[in-house]
Amino acid sequence: MSVRTVAPGVLSVGAIDWDRRLFDDLIPLPEGTSYNAFLVRGSEKTALIDAVDTSMEMALMTNLFRAAADRIDYIVVNHAEQDHSGMVPLLLEMYAGATVVTNKVCRDLLVAFHGIPEERIKVVGDRETLSLGDKTLEFLITPWVHWPDTMLTFLREERVLFSCDLFGAHLATSDLFLRDRFEWYRLAKRYYGEIMMPFRNSIKGYLEKVRGLNPAIICPSHGPLYDEPEVVLAAYDDWISDEVKNEVVIAYASMHGSTRAMVDHLVNALIDRGVRVRQFHLPSTDLGDLALALVDPATIVIAAPTVLFGPHPVAVTAAYLANALKPKARFATVMTSYGWGGKTVDTLKGMLGQLKVEFLEPVQVKGFPSSEAQEAIAALADAIRDRHAASAADWVGPA
Ligand code: FEO
Repeated sequence: MSVRTVAPGVLSVGAIDWDRRLFDDLIPLPEGTSYNAFLVRGSEKTALIDAVDTSMEMALMTNLFRAAADRIDYIVVNHAEQDHSGMVPLLLEMYAGATVVTNKVCRDLLVAFHGIPEERIKVVGDRETLSLGDKTLEFLITPWVHWPDTMLTFLREERVLFSCDLFGAHLATSDLFLRDRFEWYRLAKRYYGEIMMPFRNSIKGYLEKVRGLNPAIICPSHGPLYDEPEVVLAAYDDWISDEVKNEVVIAYASMHGSTRAMVDHLVNALIDRGVRVRQFHLPSTDLGDLALALVDPATIVIAAPTVLFGPHPVAVTAAYLANALKPKARFATVMTSYGWGGKTVDTLKGMLGQLKVEFLEPVQVKGFPSSEAQEAIAALADAIRDRHAASAADWVGPA
């Protein structure tokens, strides 16, 4: 572990978790993560911004010792999720004079999660400030990035923005500031897809607020910090924009090859028509990769065999995920192969109710796709091509 200087009076005292491979028992972490925390020393008061996950207790304690943090007056909690608040109860025991500073929603969660006494919590409102002497913290209440309790903290004098989960990336790296943009981009976009995408519309307003602050440094609580904030702000501009790409994501499973044959026909037909395709075999797909892939495409296709009377369970998971993440796709459909009927199309369509999409004509095939079924798939490819031509942009990678 190490203590590093972020800006004058600002130390990084968080932890790098090189080995973690799963978050929330749900999100794969192929490159680990970090739980960033920061010590801000003013001429009169000292604040700790965010605390780390309890699994990193020793790292935080070691860093506070090395930083000679014999006094902490304020523990600023930007967000109550335990990977940032886990160490708060112990910190309150260690620093008997410390006060937790957070917003009202976060306060209620901290009380519920950790039993923190309310009298040790100071509630702040939007744009309220807290003086540390020669340094000033300003709080921006920004609900739903990605919980209702989230806020950002801005250190005015040094123009450092502590953004907690917003702008983060699950990436364990020894780089304090972003240096390897190639490595970072995919992981940051994946993080956006997994965690921030459902809140795209809220983030639009927050980006304006952040730019209004003109931060010199942005410090998220996961992954590298940004000493060129426009790198991450521009990436978010792209991801949250209303523009969709001329691309289809096909998430599929197949039991005996019939659905796979339908997918093959559709993929080839789309390629022939100049439409970009990404194909995901659901039983072997990393859900983070699927979330990342859902950020841009104009169309989502779920293809799954009918099991008994409904969709294959892995397709149910994919539909649930897509519905929860609310990608900006404009079109969707379902393809299925069945033996004796069932409600696969209706079930999957019903699970995608949160998406603002036009449902294209589904393709349902009894058994292996016949020439008639292949014509239906070609017609689906025509419909996708025509709709994309009217409303989707060509795919361009990061600059
Ligand atoms: Fe990094 Fe929402 O916790």
